[in-house]
Amino acid sequence: GSIAAPNTWACQRITCLQHHNPKLTTALEVLEKHAQLRDGNSDYSRALAFRKASCVLKSLPHTLTDIHQLRGLKDIGNHSAQVIEDILEEGFSNEVEEILNDPWFIKMKLFSSVFGVGSAIALKWIERGWEKIEDAQNSNDITSDWRVQWGLAFHDDLTSPVLRQEADNLLEVIREEATKLLPGVIVEIVGGFRRGKMSGHDADFLLTHPDEGSEIGLLPQLLQRLQKRGFLLAGQAEKNSFTPGVLKKDFKLSMKGQLDHFEKWIGIMKLPKSFKDKHTDPSSIIMPTPGSDPIDGSLDYQPSRKKAKCGISGLSPWELSRTERAWCARRVDLIISPFSQYYYGLVGWTGSKHFNRDLRTYSQKVLNMKVTSHGLFDFTKNQSIPAHSEKEVFDILKLPYHEPWQRNC
Ligand code: CTP
Ligand code: MN
Ligand code: MN
Ligand code: MN
Repeated sequence: GSIAAPNTWACQRITCLQHHNPKLTTALEVLEKHAQLRDGNSDYSRALAFRKASCVLKSLPHTLTDIHQLRGLKDIGNHSAQVIEDILEEGFSNEVEEILNDPWFIKMKLFSSVFGVGSAIALKWIERGWEKIEDAQNSNDITSDWRVQWGLAFHDDLTSPVLRQEADNLLEVIREEATKLLPGVIVEIVGGFRRGKMSGHDADFLLTHPDEGSEIGLLPQLLQRLQKRGFLLAGQAEKNSFTPGVLKKDFKLSMKGQLDHFEKWIGIMKLPKSFKDKHTDPSSIIMPTPGSDPIDGSLDYQPSRKKAKCGISGLSPWELSRTERAWCARRVDLIISPFSQYYYGLVGWTGSKHFNRDLRTYSQKVLNMKVTSHGLFDFTKNQSIPAHSEKEVFDILKLPYHEPWQRNC
C-alpha cells in the first residue's frame, strides 16, 4: 500500500533533520548538486526536481522499502524514481557513484566551496588546469573579489563546520554590543542553527527593534564595536535597498531577483577557538593581534577595490592565515529588519532554502499571494497583509504552524 504523505506541498509537511531515508536523500542530493554545478544559474529545474524528491522522502514516517510506496506522488519524477529503485534493489545507484567519482564534479565541488566562488568561476579554474585549492592560492592572476581572496587564504577555516556553541557564544557578544547601542534590540540566530542543526557553513543573525525606525544606523555602529573588540576580519555592508510600500506596484518592485533588500553585513569574523568548546562570558573576550583590523570597506558602504590588507598588521590575507593564532575565521551574516517586516524576514532567513522556495510557489499558485522576506501581498484583496508573529505568517498562508526544526526540507 502507499504510505505517501498526503500533503502536496513541502511547506505543509513536517520535515525534520533526522528522518528515515538518509541513504536515498543523500544520493538524490548528489544529483541535485551535480545539476546545480552543471547548469549554473541558467536552469535550476533539474536540480529542483531532485530536491523535491529528496524532500518527500524526508517527510515519510517510515524507511522506504518498495518503490510502489511512492505511487501517486507528483514530486517524485521519473529520473528520481529510477535512482530510488536502483538503490532499493541494488543497494546503490550507478549514476550517483559515477558522479561521485567524476574528476570534474570533484573539482567543481572543491572550487565552489571557496567563499565567493560559484559554478562560473569554478569552471574557469578547471579550464586553467587547476586541480587543487593550492593552485588557486598560488596564482597571481586571481580575481580582485575580496571574498575570493579571503576565501582562499582561509579555506581550511571556512570549510570546517561552524559549531552551534560558536554561534551561541557569538550571539551573546552581538546581543551585548547591540543592546548597549540600542536597548530593547532583538537578536535572533537564524539559518540552519535555528532549525536545530548542530553545525553549519556560517552563522546568521537577524536584528530588529519593536520601535520601528530605531534600527536605522545600528549596523555601522555595531560593526565598529565588533571591530574594536577584534572580531572582524573582512566583510561588506549593504544598505537597505528597498522598503516595500502597501501598493501592489511597490510590492512587485521589491520582488526583483531572489535576494532580499535588508540592510546587511556579509563577512568573515574571527572567533576565539575557545568558542568551540565552552560557554564564554562575552565581556571577558579580548581578541588577540595581529590582524585586529578589518580590510578597508568592511565598515563603510563602499567596497574597496584595493588589494585586501589587514589594517594594523599590514599583512595580506594569506600571510595572516599563516600566523600563529588563537582564532578561527568564520562566515557570518548580520541582517537588519524593520520591525514591520520582521516576522516575514524571520521565516525567510530561517529557511530552509527549499522551504522558502516551496512557500513562494504555494502562495502564488494556491492563494494568489506573493510572499517574500519583506511581507506578503494578497492579489485577490489587492493589499499587503502585515504579520505580528511567525505563527501569524503561517495563519495568513493557511498553513499549519511548524516549528523551525520542522522546516528542514
Ligand atoms: N537567505 C535569504 N536570502 C539571502 C540569503 C539566504 O533569504 N540572500 C535564506 C536562505 O534561504 C536560508 C537562510 O536565509 O533559508 C540562511 O541561509 P544560509 O546561511 O545560506 O543557509 P543555512 O540554511 O543557514 O545553511 P548552513 O547551515 O549551511 O549555513
Ligand atoms: Mn561558493
Ligand atoms: Mn547559515
Ligand atoms: Mn548565511
